[in-house]
Amino acid sequence: MSNKPDNYTVIGLQWGDEGKGKVVDALAERCRYVARFCGGANAGHTIVTNGQKYALHLIPSGVLHAGTVNVIGNGVAFNPRRAIEEIDALAERGTKLGPDNLRISSASHCVMPWHMLQDTLSESRLGEGKIGTTAQGIGPCYSDKAIRSTAVRTGDLVDADALRAKVRSIAAEKSKVYAAVYGAEEPLDGDAIAEEYVEYGRRLAPMIGNTGALLRGAVAAGERILFEGGQGSMLDVDHGTFPFVTSSSVTACGVPTGAGVPPQAPGRVIGVIKAYTSRVGAGPFPTEQDNEMGQYLRDRGNEYGTTTGRPRRCGWFDAVAVRYAAELSGVDELALSLLDVPAGLDEMKICVGYRIDGRSVGDLSDGADEAFSPDTMDRVECEYETLPGWSEDIGQCRRVEDLPEAARAYIRHIEQAVGRPVGVVSIGKDRRQTIFRGSLVAGEAT
Ligand code: GDP
Ligand code: IMO
Ligand code: MG
Repeated sequence: MSNKPDNYTVIGLQWGDEGKGKVVDALAERCRYVARFCGGANAGHTIVTNGQKYALHLIPSGVLHAGTVNVIGNGVAFNPRRAIEEIDALAERGTKLGPDNLRISSASHCVMPWHMLQDTLSESRLGEGKIGTTAQGIGPCYSDKAIRSTAVRTGDLVDADALRAKVRSIAAEKSKVYAAVYGAEEPLDGDAIAEEYVEYGRRLAPMIGNTGALLRGAVAAGERILFEGGQGSMLDVDHGTFPFVTSSSVTACGVPTGAGVPPQAPGRVIGVIKAYTSRVGAGPFPTEQDNEMGQYLRDRGNEYGTTTGRPRRCGWFDAVAVRYAAELSGVDELALSLLDVPAGLDEMKICVGYRIDGRSVGDLSDGADEAFSPDTMDRVECEYETLPGWSEDIGQCRRVEDLPEAARAYIRHIEQAVGRPVGVVSIGKDRRQTIFRGSLVAGEAT
């Protein structure tokens, strides 16, 4: 029996798109709250159930469960326009959101039109050296959060007069900066932007409030919260492959600050991993297979961005990076997703070590010459363990025991290489294609 609160934290341990949305949806029916704590509309979380596909960006992935309260925490870069679009699209499909089931932190920072503009201008200025962002204004929004005087928070949307004054003043300042730095010809229309955001405030006001207090109350009352991560640990602003990262704290360490809860609140940490690796955008990717193998995974896994549609780079499973990410977040269990995708490959490879100039690089714990750091990932050579592949379609399996022996051996090797047990195995897009084991079996106490 652990002394952690009976909460779940679901985070990505690779470079995003690990299948977090599906895992969150599958666990959400056991939770009273599902709370986002990082990122913004750069996230694209997919849920498939009853033949219906939902791609969520800002709205938490608990939304399909009646009785679950979905929370957008203070750590989120909140784009009200995108949120309203998602709310309306969900309503059309029969899922109604209002103050009873969607709460938005007044302390979250608003993505403004100038953030989207700056994201694009900055990326084009970088040319070949660009980060490959999702163009959702994420970096510029968090920069203004740090600068403070040029920030607009979601709570500001509900005071129309103060908002108008603030937006006009910031727009005037930004126009000067963009003209000077990027040669932007058109100044921002501060009046129009102010009116647009006043309208968003009117629409969203009943849902905006003190979500930190709400979640702390839930912790005190023993109501279960699921904290839903965005992105993946290797994209974390502090602990990822900087500068090819996003701009927020996306590991479990980001939960307390990003949701306004105490450090114990994350509870049981579930790290989602793909059975292979994908990355979208620029930056190091040691196990990348920029070849037929990568294309095979891209085709079978439909590896195209949920937010941008960009083809994702694909490669072998990297246990060195995942072990680092799992240690960083104190991961209790792994959720292994897309295990059906590599079927048909003769062999499977797992990267179990790195080398730089002949020296081994890994965790201190395994006696490597050098500790792992994401900063050297652009220079490493991978050491692989090779395992047999499997050809069977595993989409109908309902228990781990039903999987072909080669797939079970692959799971065991991942557990061993990463040093954590696999508590969830996902074998297809659909909600039902999810196998729970260990402490994550429904109804079992942690
Ligand atoms: P997220 O950002 O971590 O929520 O992941 P995305 O939704 O961006 O990408 C995961 C993709 O894989 C989506 O298209 C999911 O529908 C799909 N998916 C999730 N789990 C599985 C699985 O076990 N098998 C297959 N074939 N697809 C899956
Ligand atoms: P989910 O939650 C995959 C990547 C971008 C880019 C870098 C910076 O769906 O897993 P940003 O727009 O955040 O400034 O881009 O981070 N990125 C993601 N990649 N999945 C995501 O979210 C991502 N969110 C950001 O591709 O490389
Ligand atoms: Mg995604």
